[in-house]
Amino acid sequence: MDLTSRYMGLDLKNPLVASASPLTGELDSLRQLEDAGVAAIVLPSLFQEHIEAEARRYEALTEAGADSFPEALTYFPALSASHAGPERYLMLVRAAVEAVDLPIIGSLNGTTNEGWIDFAKQIEQAGAAGIELNVYFLPIDPAMSGRAVEQRYVEILTAVRAAVAIPVAVKVGPYFSAFGQMAQELDRAGADALVLFNRFYQPDIDLVGLRMVKDLELSRRNEIRLPLLWIGVLSGNIRASLAASTGVESAEEVLKYLLAGADAVMTTSALLRHGVQHVATLLSGVNAWLSARDIRSLDQVRGLLSRRKTRRTGALIRADYIEMLQEYDPQPIA
Ligand SMILES: Cc1cc2nc3c(=O)[nH]c(=O)nc-3n(C[C@H](O)[C@H](O)[C@H](O)COP(=O)(O)O)c2cc1C
Repeated sequence: MDLTSRYMGLDLKNPLVASASPLTGELDSLRQLEDAGVAAIVLPSLFQEHIEAEARRYEALTEAGADSFPEALTYFPALSASHAGPERYLMLVRAAVEAVDLPIIGSLNGTTNEGWIDFAKQIEQAGAAGIELNVYFLPIDPAMSGRAVEQRYVEILTAVRAAVAIPVAVKVGPYFSAFGQMAQELDRAGADALVLFNRFYQPDIDLVGLRMVKDLELSRRNEIRLPLLWIGVLSGNIRASLAASTGVESAEEVLKYLLAGADAVMTTSALLRHGVQHVATLLSGVNAWLSARDIRSLDQVRGLLSRRKTRRTGALIRADYIEMLQEYDPQPIA
């Protein structure tokens, strides 16, 4: 079975990619992911806040040293390496590239296009095959316009794009008033791939302790529907490749994303829930489904149910919506 896929300019042996999580930050689990069959790995994010904190720490040390012990300056790189998130991250990139024979994608996570972007260059120099840019930005300032939010994404991407030659993917959330136009703008600004979608972590309320609760719930399979919708809409309509992220639990979700037009399908929650070996189960399920239909190559069906292939117009989508509401059959309450 030919499952080969091309994602963000990288040739992958299959479409399954391990998305950023603690599982991708340990060399042992990276090797296990490779053995189980993933085609590429996204490392956990390096956060803008950590890069900036390290820069401030370095500055403070430099100033103190300049005043009192100029010779101490020679120690700073060593100090930096032992504490810094950024230095450790580069060590992880280098070690990951050595440990597995798969494309390693570094992940940068930030919200503005200031100096930290230079770090993309260092991730490239450490051997990463690509960079995934996670713009996790919640526009809670009511004075901020939608246009300003969109502009911010484009500016960050433009800055990273200019800093590196390796492919750059952008992992975004779905909350834009016109996501199709946002996707096109990112495409024009040089995104090699879009990862749909970033999962926004929403707080809950503890009614006993009367406080906000922050906890991380793993995704469920019914969460594929929003990314599925947008991958289906965008497939074949933009240059950037498309990765589906969120809600993969079984081979069924992987297949649905591929039929909608995904070039790659990412997974984290299912691997945290079932273990790294689950990759093999996902892949064998995809193989079995294709074989049962006598399909020899994934590309024969990729995007088969995209909007472009099915020619679904906005009017048809609205007609479906109205029909669904009207035909809903309430079950009698027992
Ligand atoms: C424990 C945990 C840590 C994560 N860390 C990161 C991260 O560092 N950077 C990132 O972009 N996404 C991170 N994610 C999000 C995942 O990469 C993924 O986008 C999300 O879990 C949705 O995919 P899933 O439904 O397959 O889990 C993390 C998710 C979990 C559960």
